[in-house]
Formats: sequence, C-alpha cells, structure tokens
Amino acid sequence: MQKQTFWQSLFRTKPVEAYQREAQQTVLRRALGRWSLVSLGIGAIIGGGIFTLTGVAAKLYAGPALALSFVIAGIACLLAALAYAEFASIVPVEGSAYAYSYATVGEIIAWFIGWNLILEYMMGATTVAVAWSGYFEKLLHLFGIEVPYWLMNDPFTAKLKAKEMGLEPPAFSINLPGFLIAWVVTSILLRGIKETASTNNLIVFIKVGAVIFVILAGLFFINPDNWTPFIPAPEIDAKGNIHYGWSGIFTAATIVFFAYIGFDAVSTQAGEAINPRRDVPFAIVASLLITTILYIGVSVVLTGMVPYKELDERAPVASAFAGAGVGWATYIITFAAVAGLISVMLVMLLGQTRIFLAMAKDGLLPERIFGYVHPIYKTPFRSTLLVGVIMSLVASFVPIVNVSELTSLGTLLAFTLVSLSVFILRLQRPDLERPYKVPLWPLVSLGGVVVNIFLMSQARKENLRAFALWGLIGLLVYFLYSRRQSKLNRQAEVLSDL
Ligand code: ALA
Repeated sequence: MQKQTFWQSLFRTKPVEAYQREAQQTVLRRALGRWSLVSLGIGAIIGGGIFTLTGVAAKLYAGPALALSFVIAGIACLLAALAYAEFASIVPVEGSAYAYSYATVGEIIAWFIGWNLILEYMMGATTVAVAWSGYFEKLLHLFGIEVPYWLMNDPFTAKLKAKEMGLEPPAFSINLPGFLIAWVVTSILLRGIKETASTNNLIVFIKVGAVIFVILAGLFFINPDNWTPFIPAPEIDAKGNIHYGWSGIFTAATIVFFAYIGFDAVSTQAGEAINPRRDVPFAIVASLLITTILYIGVSVVLTGMVPYKELDERAPVASAFAGAGVGWATYIITFAAVAGLISVMLVMLLGQTRIFLAMAKDGLLPERIFGYVHPIYKTPFRSTLLVGVIMSLVASFVPIVNVSELTSLGTLLAFTLVSLSVFILRLQRPDLERPYKVPLWPLVSLGGVVVNIFLMSQARKENLRAFALWGLIGLLVYFLYSRRQSKLNRQAEVLSDL
C-alpha cells in the first residue's frame, strides 16, 4: 500500500461504521432512559447564568428587551442542538463533537475540537466550582455564619481582598469550598452513572422549582411601565461601545449564551443511554427548549419588576425580590443556586471524562489513564480521578473567576464544527440511516456555522488571544504525541509496510 502524505494523514477520518460498531460494544453501563437524559441536559444548563448574567445583560445592553436576547441566543443554540441531534442519531458514541468531526473533517480538526472541549467542560466546571464557593459563602452569610476570607479565596484574590480591607496579606489562603465541592462531585461520578443520574434528578427538581417560583411569584410585582420603552434607544459610551438598541440586544445575547451551555453534554452520554439513537437527540432538543421557555419567563418577569437601569449587576434576581419586600426569596434563590451548580459540575465533568475516553480509544490520549474503565463501577475511573485532582487544585489556588468567556468560546467552536460536519456528512454519505434529520437542510446547518462564528467574533480581544494560545498548545501536543500514537496512524503504518 502507498504511504499517506503528511497532508492526508492530518485529515484522515475514522469511518462512521467503526463508530457504529464501537457503539454496540460500549464498556459503560447503559442505565439512562429518555427522561434521565433530559434531566441531565437541564442539570447542565440551568446554573449561575440565569441568576447572575441577566443583570448586566439587561442593565447595560438590552434593557427590557432582554427576553429577545434570550430568544436569539436560544436560536443559535437550537441550530447547533439540531446538528448534535442528527449526529447522535447516526453515531451514538460518547465522543460527541470530537467523534463527529473525526468521522467527517479529519483527525487534526477532531483533536482540536477535543482540546477545546476541555475549555467547555473541565474549565467550565472549574469556574462553576469557584462561583459555587461564592454562593455558598452567601448562603452561610444568610444564616449568620462568617468564614475567614483566606479560607474562601485563592491566594491572589485573597491578597487583593486583604489590601481592600487594609490588612496584611495572609500567609496562606485557599478556596476551601471550591476544593471540597470538586471532590464531592468527583466522588459521585466515580461511583457510577446511576448514582450520578439520581443525584442530578433531585437537583434538577430543586432548581426548576426555584425558577418556576421566580416566574410565578415575580408576576405579582410587575409594573408594566418598566417595559417601556421595550427597546431603549441606542447609546454610545466614551469607549465607543454601543448600549441598547438592536446592537445592545445582540451583545446581551452573547453574554447570556453562557446560561445555555450544557445541553450538548447530553450527547456525551450516548454510551450510557439505553436507546441512544432515539433518546439522545430527543433529550438534547427537549432540554434546550424547556430551559429556553424558563429563561424567557425569568427575563420578562425580572425586567417587569425592576426598571432596567436599577437592576443589580451581581445578584439581579435575588435583589429584585429583596427590593419588592420579599427578602426571604433570597434564601430560596441562593439555596437553589448552591444546589443547582452542583449538577452543572456533575454533567460537565461527566462529559469531560467521556470525551477523554473516546480520544483514548482512538489513541490520541494515553489509554492506560483515559481509557481505563472500572470493572465494577463501569466509570472511567482514573480519568475522573485525574480531572478531580486538577479541578480541585485550580479551584483552590488559581483566580479563574473571569474565564467563563473562554468556556463560551470553546463551546462556540464546537457548535460551529458540529454544524459544519453535519453539512459535510450529508454530502459525503447520503446513504447513512438517520433516525433524526436536521430540518430545512442546508439552511439550518449553514445557519449554525454563521451564527456561531458571529457570536465568537463578539468576544473580547484578550479572550480571543488566550483562546488562540490554548489552540496553539493543543496543536503542539498533537504533533508531539497524538499524531504518532493515533490508532489510524498505526494502522496506516502497518498497511504501508505490506
Ligand atoms: N449554563 C451553565 C450556567 O449557566 C453553565 O451556569
């Protein structure tokens, strides 16, 4: 056989049929039914985003038209969700976006996506751990418990706080709640998918209840005057940034996009679903639609309760209720956030270890660590443990609270490539059986590419630079390790020797 050229080797693809064979021999436990999958989707989606980002997005950018920003971000996500759904119905494997691109656009792109999904899942979960620590502190405060600041913050943030308070910097500091919650989540994941799913179901019940409470209770405090003008006239600030008007609505859409992140994690559970080809596509779309409706409800109520310019930037929902004289609602919202963020971390880390497992099966990551599945618990044990170690250390000692935009960028890139890959696969393999098909093809697939690239372009420059640097490191790892270890590479070498 002829040897592959360098270029050909970069874009070698793994046949869809190979994935379909693998899907039949999953080493994981198939325990997830249709509604458990929907619940995992909601578990990953509803988190801090809806309780915090709504403030800045409405106050500074969208005004009362915040609901429109949620609709726009929801549509961008839906375009990607439909693409995920079609792929999950063809190749129901845990590798998700990574595997879909390996089957279509080739190895180096697949690696790149896998690498960027680390930003979405592991980095995402770690930022959520730090945010969780903040909510936990608030909850303790509500009950009159104060913890020393050097036990609640990483060393850099603690130093800043000490300075603000006019104190000497502490000799040692750690974000202890961040550390502990990382291990609580890791230990649930290690135990197994059933334990993970039932913990998630309970949490989803609590947080959906809290969101419905916000919507229904908030209805009583609406002053319709707060909705006019619905789209305030555009204003340009000293730096040239546009606030309000349609431009502001779009900027707000990129901000609240973060609140939707997570539905795609359902696709990484294909290896654990009882009927993945039908239920995973359903769960991806259903969890997104349910949360979109809830989010629109919260934005309409919130902007009706408080004049948009008076919204609180840090805790808009809780403050709106406190302002309406319903101070006890703060307890419900803070408790829901503390509980709710746990399932966001659970599902994101679940997704991370399944992506790693898929990459290890293909030889792109060390199989002994990332491909090892525990014989009794049927979970990727070593990889979960490793992810737990990294997450707990970073959450404890690194100031990462502002990197959520990187999480959004990693996610948007994955959405773009999944939309593109669906388009390509329809052209390359029209023969494949597709239990679920993206409607209005190619409009929806190409629309997904355009909208997600547009949202990426809205990110701040310094984050785009950090994102590019992360990508470069990824390429370095690919050329130094993964390219050579790739199973497709080893097969190609054997064949070329024949
Ligand atoms: N969508 C998740 C949140 O809002 C990441 O926290």
